[in-house]
Amino acid sequence: MFDSGVGGLSVLRALLAELPGTRFVYLADSAFAPYGERDAAEVSQRTHRVASYLRKAHAIDALVLACNTATAIAIDSLRKDHPDLPIVGVEPALKPAVGLSQSGCIGVLATRGTLESPRFSVLRKRLMSQVTGPLRFLCQSCDGLAAAIERNDDSAIQTLCERYTLALRDAAGPDLDAVVLGCTHYPFAMSALTRLLGSSVTLVDTAVPVARRTREVLGLMPAAPGTSVPPPVLLATRDPQALEQAASRWLGLLTTARLVHP
Ligand code: DGL
Repeated sequence: MFDSGVGGLSVLRALLAELPGTRFVYLADSAFAPYGERDAAEVSQRTHRVASYLRKAHAIDALVLACNTATAIAIDSLRKDHPDLPIVGVEPALKPAVGLSQSGCIGVLATRGTLESPRFSVLRKRLMSQVTGPLRFLCQSCDGLAAAIERNDDSAIQTLCERYTLALRDAAGPDLDAVVLGCTHYPFAMSALTRLLGSSVTLVDTAVPVARRTREVLGLMPAAPGTSVPPPVLLATRDPQALEQAASRWLGLLTTARLVHP
């Protein structure tokens, strides 16, 4: 599995709970983070390169693209290039949010790259055409937020969350009752977002459904309680200590990360 950086750890957390006996190789492409503010061709090139590296160097059985931006931009071409490899992507949870929202007024926080992708636009339009009744998706790109989470910079996280939740509130008015976290980094800003949006707004994340889907794709049964957990292999293309610290802070993992250059 991989992400542009530490954000995919939110997906790894759910995968470890769903598939505790499975060996995970997590790669943070931190030398190229953030993906969300790069152009699509560059994100696609990195995604293909990292996927080929994980296949060659680690003989993976399946790949989880733990990054909404990489999924939005490159999952189709990646599946074409690797037809024999099961690939699970991560997409903003618009459909679950429709199910949870009473008002039909839904905010979407994601990277610029995800929101501007044709894949996201197809997803949004498909839902708009399927749902009867009022439905509005208010999409807010969050430049800088993934990078602030990478740096664990609490003050920047707070400032940016304030800016983007205020913009959502301004656009949505009082009806806003669900906000999709359309970037795997954003669950790590959950406490700031919850404080700012209040308890009447449900935050919708995709990690658990993605973990369940990965288990189904691998044809595995739900984990028995007490299954032993092999430690994940942690790799980073820059600053492996930052990945180690994030894995320890958020997942309680005490694993050394290695620097790699796919
Ligand atoms: N975590 C990634 C996502 O889900 C990308 C964040 C970034 O690198 O911009 O979109």
